[in-house]
Amino acid sequence: MLAGCVGIEALAPPVTPMLAARARADSSTLAAGRRIYLTKCASCHAADPVADYADEWPHIIRKMAPKSKLSPAEEHAVLAYVLAASR
Ligand code: HEC
Repeated sequence: MLAGCVGIEALAPPVTPMLAARARADSSTLAAGRRIYLTKCASCHAADPVADYADEWPHIIRKMAPKSKLSPAEEHAVLAYVLAASR
């Protein structure tokens, strides 16, 4: 597993039609965001369970996006995903 004893489903829940509907975002953006979260965001530290932060995500992503050298589109996608998946 990517994160020791935490299952990947709990860490970063998969993108489902229900998740996309709840977030009012399209599935392909959310899926791209999830991929970034599990790869680029986990290059310095292990990815935390997305549910650990919720409302703090906009602030955290603003701080971490430059560290990951994300494009504006990638930053948008990863923020959309973590917000959707942590609610
Ligand atoms: C270049 C290395 C690096 C990359 C890439 C990186 N981080 Fe971080 N991250 C850090 C460091 C260092 C800290 C702890 C110090 C800090 O808060 O700046 C941290 C802290 C965090 C925290 C804890 C924040 C808190 O307030 O407790 C979270 C959550 C996080 N990162 C998420 C992410 C996400 C999401 C991405 C991808 C967009 C990402 N990180 C990419 C280096 C990185």
